[in-house]
Amino acid sequence: MYLCAENGAVGRRPEVLVVGGGKGGVGKSCFSVNMAVDIARKGWRVILVDADLSCSNIETILGTNSGRSLDDFFHQKGGKDIQSVVCETPYENLRVIPGTTGLLDVANPKYQQKAVFIRQLRKLDADLVIVDLDAGAHFNTLDFFLMTDTNGVLIITPEKTSIDNAFKFMRAALFRRIERFYRSPEVALLLKRNQTIEDFIECVRKAEAFGGEAKDEICGEVVALARSIHPRIVVNKAHNAYEAQIASNILAKYARQYLRIEPQNLGFMPFDKHVSETVNSGMPFVVSRPKLKISMCIGDIANRLGYV
Ligand SMILES: Nc1ncnc2c1ncn2[C@@H]1O[C@H](COP(=O)(O)OP(=O)(O)O)[C@@H](O)[C@H]1O
Ligand SMILES: [Mg+2]
Repeated sequence: MYLCAENGAVGRRPEVLVVGGGKGGVGKSCFSVNMAVDIARKGWRVILVDADLSCSNIETILGTNSGRSLDDFFHQKGGKDIQSVVCETPYENLRVIPGTTGLLDVANPKYQQKAVFIRQLRKLDADLVIVDLDAGAHFNTLDFFLMTDTNGVLIITPEKTSIDNAFKFMRAALFRRIERFYRSPEVALLLKRNQTIEDFIECVRKAEAFGGEAKDEICGEVVALARSIHPRIVVNKAHNAYEAQIASNILAKYARQYLRIEPQNLGFMPFDKHVSETVNSGMPFVVSRPKLKISMCIGDIANRLGYV
């Protein structure tokens, strides 16, 4: 993808891959780090961003300690420059933007600050920028998910709670998108009162606040907004491919039925007792244990994403 930089020069725009999922501990950071290392080792220039603003740990899993943090970026006055927080790693083609120190004022940046951050990420000189999000579905996480392309990766496990949280994450992302699209108190109120997109549409049809034409318009737009979100699902900690496929199918069914969102299944990673050992050693499993099934699964997913 090519774009005109502000100085008029033509530069290459990186693809941005956001990794979220709603629940903590499902493996978002392990996936992001190993995927980044795997793709970088294939020759693509990758920048891994720790956007977990409250509990960052990318550098721990990667085994690096740059001594810099995203705080430096958010604290910069005037024109912010993301380059100042891009750090080298021991891996060729891989650089990292470390997370925050967890200080309160940085843990909750304003919408404008986040927009500047994302704009700067899009201008980075790289082939791929992988953004590791934090758990939960609060505004920071949703905004990062929505400000980049809406085909981010959602990591889930086969557990009901994880599927449930991923569904709620998608719903919160869609509702946040609708809210920011209309910026209308009437729409915001209807969003608060409804659990599904079907219920929301039903309520719009009955609402006295909107005229007939406005109702048709809103219902059409809301469905289009839902269809513009295309999350890709990776099932982690699965016991086998079948269990992973079932988990992914259940989430896709609920997303389709209640949110009109059509997720895509990207693959799975098995539960592997060696993962925690590789986290403790600061050596990603695709490097220290390349023959493990989980390392091969990372390679398969990278291929499916087009990084061969
Ligand atoms: N496929 C797996 N098999 C076994 N343990 C895993 C697997 N993926 C992740 N883990 C473990 O789960 C813990 C949480 O992973 P992490 O990537 O930090 O989750 P998140 O970023 O979603 O909070 C890690 O400490 C790791 O040891
Ligand atoms: Mg994490």
